[in-house]
Amino acid sequence: MSTFPEEKINTVQLFSTMAERGVDMSEALLAQAAAPFDYKKLPLWGIEKAAKLAKTTSATIRRLEKAGELPQAKRDDINRRVYSLQDVNRIRARTGSLFKRPPGSLPLRCVVANLKGGTGKTTTAVHLAQYAALQGLNVLLVDLDPQASTTNAFGLLPDIHVATQGTLAEPLVVEKLDEARQLARNTIKQTYWHQLDLIPSQLNMVSVDGELTNKDGRDRIYRLRDILEDLEQDYDLVVVDVPPALGLLSVSAMVAADYLLVPIVPNMPDIASSIQYFTILSDVAEHMTLTDMNIMIARHEPSRHSDAAAALIRSIYGINVINAQMLATRELSKSSHDLLSVYEIDKPTGSRDTYKRALSSMNAVNGEILTRFQGIWEQQTESVQKKTNQGTTEIAANG
Ligand SMILES: Nc1ncnc2c1ncn2[C@@H]1O[C@H](COP(=O)(O)OP(=O)(O)OP(=O)(O)O)[C@@H](O)[C@H]1O
Ligand SMILES: [Mg+2]
Repeated sequence: MSTFPEEKINTVQLFSTMAERGVDMSEALLAQAAAPFDYKKLPLWGIEKAAKLAKTTSATIRRLEKAGELPQAKRDDINRRVYSLQDVNRIRARTGSLFKRPPGSLPLRCVVANLKGGTGKTTTAVHLAQYAALQGLNVLLVDLDPQASTTNAFGLLPDIHVATQGTLAEPLVVEKLDEARQLARNTIKQTYWHQLDLIPSQLNMVSVDGELTNKDGRDRIYRLRDILEDLEQDYDLVVVDVPPALGLLSVSAMVAADYLLVPIVPNMPDIASSIQYFTILSDVAEHMTLTDMNIMIARHEPSRHSDAAAALIRSIYGINVINAQMLATRELSKSSHDLLSVYEIDKPTGSRDTYKRALSSMNAVNGEILTRFQGIWEQQTESVQKKTNQGTTEIAANG
C-alpha cells in the first residue's frame, strides 16, 4: 500500500457521496417495496381469520353485527366483510376474549440480546412485539440499536424520518431523571399496528455508550430501567432490541430486563460466542433483576451439522432453551429485505408452503414465549393475593 499523500483518495468526498447515494437508494426501495410509514398499513382480514383471532365463530360475529351489538363490518371490492386489528379487538371486547393482564401483575420488560451480530435479535423482537399486539396486548417496542433495523422494519428511514430528539439518546444521558422521563415520553411513536408503539432509533444512539462511560454514579446503568418503569404503565409488554455489543448501553438493557431472551444460531462459532457472552454477563449479574431468562434456537436450517449444534445448545443450557425454534426460511430473510414481517404479509411472496412454514415457526416461538409471560403474570397475581390474605389474617388476629 502506498504512503504518498498525493495518492490518497479524498475520503470525505467518497463517503459523503456514498452516504447520499445510499439514502437516495433507501428512499427509492422504501417507496417501491413498502409504502412509507404514514401509508404502511396492516392487511385487513376476512371474517374467518377475524373470528379465529377473536376466538369466536363467524356466525357469532354476523349475529352480533345484525343485532347492532357490533358495528357493521367494512366491505372490500367484492363486498366481502373485512376486519382490522382494531375491529378484532372490538369483537374480543364484546365476546369477552379481550386480553387483560391478570390483576396485580406488572408490565413486563423483555430484552432481546446477544453479543454476536446477526443472530436474529431484531427479527425476533419485531415479530414478538407484533404477535403480542395481534393477541390484544398493549406493546411498546424500543429500538436501542444505532443500526435501527427495528425502526426500519416499521417503514421509517432512521436518518430521514427520525429526529435526533426522537430517540433515547438524550434521555439516557441528561442529568436529571425527571427531564429524562419527560424527553423519553416524547419519543414514543404510534405505529400502524393498533396497540403497538415504537421508540425509534437512529445514528445518534452511537454516542450513548461513550457518554455513559464518562458518567458517574448509579444512573450510568440504571437510567434505562428508570425511564421504562415510568413509560411502561400504559403497556402490558415492553420489548427491547439491543445492539450486538457489550457497551454500557447494552448493559443498561440487561439491567432493565425482567425477561432476557437470547437467540442463538446453531453453529459452533455462535455457540462459542454465547459462552463468552454469558461469562461476561456474570460480571453485571449482580445489577440484574431477572424474573426469567430463555435461549431460543434461531435461524435453524435443519441439516446434520445444524441439528447437532442445536442439540449441543440444548445440552449446555438445558431447561433455559425454549422448545420451539425459529426456522431459517426464505420468507423470513426476504421479509426483512422487503420491510414486511410475516405478520404483515398480505400474500406470500414465494410458495405458500414456505410462507406457512415461516408463519408456523414464528407462531410456535412467540406462542411459547407469551405462555411464559402469562405464567409470570399469574405468579405475580398469586403473590399479591397471598400478601393480601396474610394482611387480612393478621388484622383478624389482632382485632
Ligand atoms: N429465521 C430466519 N430465516 C431467514 N433469515 C433470517 C431469519 N432470522 C433472521 N434472518 C435474517 O438474518 C439477518 C440478520 O437478522 P437480524 O437483523 O434479525 O439479526 P440481529 O441479531 O438483529 O443482527 P444485528 O446483530 O446486526 O442487530 C437479516 O437479514 C434477517 O432477515
Ligand atoms: Mg438487530
